[in-house]
Amino acid sequence: MRMVDIIEKKRDGAPLSEQEIQFVVKGYTSGDIPDYQMSAFAMAVFFQDMTTDERAALTMAMVESGDQIDLSKINGKKVDKHSTGGVGDKTTIALAPLVAAVGVPVAKMSGRGLGHTGGTIDKLESIPGFTVEITNDRFMELVNENKLAVVGQSGNLAPADKKLYGLRDVTATVNSIPLIASSIMSKKIASGADAIVLDVKTGTGAFMKELDQSIILAKAMVDIGNSLGRKTIAIISDMNQPLGYSVGNSLEVMEAIDLLRGQGPEDLRELCLSLGSEMVVLADKASSVKDARTLLEDAIASGAAIEKLKTFIEAQGGDSRIVDDYSILPQAQYEINVEADESGYVAGIVADKIGKAAMVLGAGRATKDAQIDLGVGITLKKKIGEAVSVGDTIAVLHANSENVDQVINMVQGSYTITEEQPQKRPLLYETIS
Ligand code: URA
Repeated sequence: MRMVDIIEKKRDGAPLSEQEIQFVVKGYTSGDIPDYQMSAFAMAVFFQDMTTDERAALTMAMVESGDQIDLSKINGKKVDKHSTGGVGDKTTIALAPLVAAVGVPVAKMSGRGLGHTGGTIDKLESIPGFTVEITNDRFMELVNENKLAVVGQSGNLAPADKKLYGLRDVTATVNSIPLIASSIMSKKIASGADAIVLDVKTGTGAFMKELDQSIILAKAMVDIGNSLGRKTIAIISDMNQPLGYSVGNSLEVMEAIDLLRGQGPEDLRELCLSLGSEMVVLADKASSVKDARTLLEDAIASGAAIEKLKTFIEAQGGDSRIVDDYSILPQAQYEINVEADESGYVAGIVADKIGKAAMVLGAGRATKDAQIDLGVGITLKKKIGEAVSVGDTIAVLHANSENVDQVINMVQGSYTITEEQPQKRPLLYETIS
């Protein structure tokens, strides 16, 4: 086989065989196929697309390029959840103990944040003593004992995807449905789950800004998962503003705890209950989404969910007193109000911009090895649909410096304020199974 022939075939729109796709991925990972040929290949895929069979073959070839986590020592059906990335998305921290409380085994591999989106591991590490550095055996033991454990993602998960993603980033080929879908699904499948629930974000703060594109991406991932024997469901959820009110590591942990106590923001609660219900059904712990939702609501009301969170924190070395006393979590030194510079109604809050503002305060990393400040962040005080007058507090900065004029401008600039009250947008658009 020759790479040039495969590029030509894809360029002309013909579907590739599984063997041809394996040849491309293996050759690129080993270094036998150079970046310039892989760039041409990615661009050919960008324009010519891939069939479902090709997408599944590409996903599997990337899975096979690295470690494949064997979760077979864990009893029961393991269901993973993945979000395509949002700002203020603390869903995992609330959802994992919530579904574990009703018996769903959660063996979660998570990543750190890079750029303006946060990572679950950073958020959890804001809990004093909490560690994700546990051995594989201990990880499985903890899931069997408590139904829940979280570890850092193996560095060798789908290395072909890592290399290809880096190339796509500099060759204008990131935004291709078959390449995004196979990239995300390769890491999910290599992580060993039996079933997968995807939270596909749509809107100004999402990877896919338009609903129709988000639906196409969700369908592509669901098709790949199902064709590779992993029951996969996707929920399309809104990212035209950050989820909940808080953005920043320890602030997001507090908001997730509020939710498990039966408080917390309505949008976060609705998303967690919807994603959680799908997980409970996929894990065979309820026969319908409606029954699953009742189980989850009961786990919150009875305190079982919050108890599960405490057990989970203690099992991974953390100080579970934080659940009852937020002052033990990292706190920023200053609270600085951001005021509205116009009167009207909040029509949108560009989540990316809020994420970047939080990053400037120190909540996120600009480079992979940068240190983050776990106590800083932003609490939104006004969200879409609310009325504001000039001078009202729209957000509060939690900062460790008083020199935050740039961040104030960024937060003000992320708000769109209109004269007319905007129409209410749905939080959840569609479920694709
Ligand atoms: N996230 C991924 O993991 N891969 C993509 O291609 C895009 C987003």
